[in-house]
Amino acid sequence: MKIFLDTAHVEEIREAVTYGLVDGVTTNPSLVAKTGRKYVDVLKEICALVDGPISAEVISVESGKMVEEAKKLAEIHPNITIKIIMTEEGIKAASELVKLNIPVNMTLVFSPLQALLCGKIGVDFVSPFVGRLDDISNTGLNLVEDIMNIYGNYGFDTEVIVASVRHPIHVLEAAQIGAHISTLPHKVFKQMFQHPLTDIGVKKFLEDAAKIPKS
Ligand code: G3P
Repeated sequence: MKIFLDTAHVEEIREAVTYGLVDGVTTNPSLVAKTGRKYVDVLKEICALVDGPISAEVISVESGKMVEEAKKLAEIHPNITIKIIMTEEGIKAASELVKLNIPVNMTLVFSPLQALLCGKIGVDFVSPFVGRLDDISNTGLNLVEDIMNIYGNYGFDTEVIVASVRHPIHVLEAAQIGAHISTLPHKVFKQMFQHPLTDIGVKKFLEDAAKIPKS
């Protein structure tokens, strides 16, 4: 499973790339707003740090405007992937971008049928939001399972990005289902490294190592 970071904080990305585990980055207007910085500046810095798909979201809601905005964003760097919201206008825009060979990540996907439409138009990525489904008492990971089954039935190349990840169990279940990618808040990325028994084991090894005669 590929790991993307779901953040617009460049310092978090700079720290995470040191582990050699980051395959891409997803951003959205809410994440960029938290930084207080200009979207373009943030994207340029991220593209310099990570050699993989970097999702940049358009904010227009009408298809023609989405396409124009997408073209400008795509000029920033060859790794920019355009995030398009899953609406009727969004599907129109995404179809156009696919024809122009501009990579697309369909976002705000909450149903298997929405994902079917995304797969049919041949976008590169689809982003089901699992945490937000959990928030309304649906099981977000069931959606991921449904999408993986549907895409398998028809041999779609669209990769599934598990998004709105809130905790490590989301990542575990995404991997068990075989989702292609999970996009993680920096906090969840760091939580994946942790186990208390590892910490206890390290302490014990170091204590015992100190008891070994040096010569
Ligand atoms: O990947 C999408 C993500 O940024 C949304 O997360 O926690 O706002 O649902 P959340």
